[in-house]
Amino acid sequence: MKNKFYITTPIYYVNAQPHLGHTYTTVAADVLARFHRMIGEETFFLTGTDEHGAKIAEKAGEAGVEPQKFVDEVANSFQIAWKELNISNDRFIRTTETDHKRSVQRAMEVMYAKGDIYKAKYEGLYCQGCEQFKNEKDLVEGKCSDHKTVPQWMSEEAYMFKLSKYQDELLKKIQDDELMIHPVEKKNEVLSFYNQQGLKDIAFSREKVKWGIPVPWDKDHTIYVWADAFLNYLTGLGWKGEEGELPEFWPADVQLIGKDILRVHATIWPAMLLSLGLPVQKQLFTHGFFLSEGQKMSKSLGNVIAPEDLVKKYGVDGTRYLLMSATTFGNDGDITWKYLDEKYNADLANGLGNLVARVSNLLEKNSIELELKINSDKELYDTVLEKMNAINIDEALKIIWRKIAESDEWLSEHKPWKLEEKEEIKKVLAPIAQNILNISYLLLPFMPMVAEKIIKQFSQTQISKSESLFPRI
Ligand code: MSP
Repeated sequence: MKNKFYITTPIYYVNAQPHLGHTYTTVAADVLARFHRMIGEETFFLTGTDEHGAKIAEKAGEAGVEPQKFVDEVANSFQIAWKELNISNDRFIRTTETDHKRSVQRAMEVMYAKGDIYKAKYEGLYCQGCEQFKNEKDLVEGKCSDHKTVPQWMSEEAYMFKLSKYQDELLKKIQDDELMIHPVEKKNEVLSFYNQQGLKDIAFSREKVKWGIPVPWDKDHTIYVWADAFLNYLTGLGWKGEEGELPEFWPADVQLIGKDILRVHATIWPAMLLSLGLPVQKQLFTHGFFLSEGQKMSKSLGNVIAPEDLVKKYGVDGTRYLLMSATTFGNDGDITWKYLDEKYNADLANGLGNLVARVSNLLEKNSIELELKINSDKELYDTVLEKMNAINIDEALKIIWRKIAESDEWLSEHKPWKLEEKEEIKKVLAPIAQNILNISYLLLPFMPMVAEKIIKQFSQTQISKSESLFPRI
């Protein structure tokens, strides 16, 4: 039987057009999904859009359009952006789909019937940017540290979810790595949250927010947008909302998330799963932010870089490579155009591109025939596999680039362009051509189009020269 692999991205709010932060998560998920498919695992990759809630209704109002029309348009932009970047998701889920809405309502009924949902008056601070309740302790000078806004005071009747009930069970699962949280600093952060603040019951419905899924037994309330959103990870697999109903692929192997949404993913979400009689996700992998001049890139801060600007400059595969290699996956990374230009020139134009061009040129010029074998460097494969399994994406790339550097050194040392004997030239070039073919195989998940081009080229007996893969900037 084939191993199964299920990977998800967060579903993106449609209050803004896709930006580089969203693109970063999606490309990383795509690289992992492609990698797991390549090594023969039955893979399901889910992404989509989060379309309900006050924040989105407000944006639609500002734009002067009906919320549904507004979300249709932005959701469409996300789908176009992901197509453009060659994202291989198996399904794109939208929380305004009828099936999703129906299953979310059913799930609410299940949790209600179980006694995990009850009515009460709820009061507290609420950040609309986060669509989250906040504690005083979370604020910096009275403001949400992500959105730099003062949270609203919320006071209304709500259906509450008994989050507190799951405190001990979840704490244990996280401690025991039954629910793994990576990197380890993030696991520790979550553990200290459990130990210091603990889980408190939370409002799962809103009376004053109309743009949402109605609570099935009380139509004056809509379901809290995060409760609605989390369930996408199940409804995206065709789940209908029944207790203990286990869809194929659940539990997720990897849920990629940004650090701003770690806490909710490590508290509310697995508690809902327990309430619904389902296993918790296997792993939450948290990455940092893409910063632009030291600030998180976000619509509210007005410092976004659009993915299409990068694609225009570096091409699809160039963009995918730069996003994955520019920073350490898991940490924050500040990016500037200057840095990206330099990295593109060094790694792609002068690195991979130049190596492929030089070697194929010499092979053609000297009519050298070779029989190369794809993926024949077991050691290289194993080290890359190990890094990818640990979701050290940038390190996997570094290993591949080390091979490129070694190949360059070998060529400068042996100077095949100065040799006259065909057999001598062949001796120098053959191992490098073999390296190139092995590298391209491992690059398929990162740069699907370029890698395939190189594989085709280097699988010929008589390799011929190619046009430049990465024109210099
Ligand atoms: N809709 C919620 C997620 C619901 S999942 C059940 C949400 N949406 S979001 O559009 O605001 O953010 C989605 C993801 O993009 C989050 O993981 C967030 O961390 C990530 N990013 C948003 N801006 C980012 C950067 N500037 N850099 C890297 N990723 C960041 O939260």
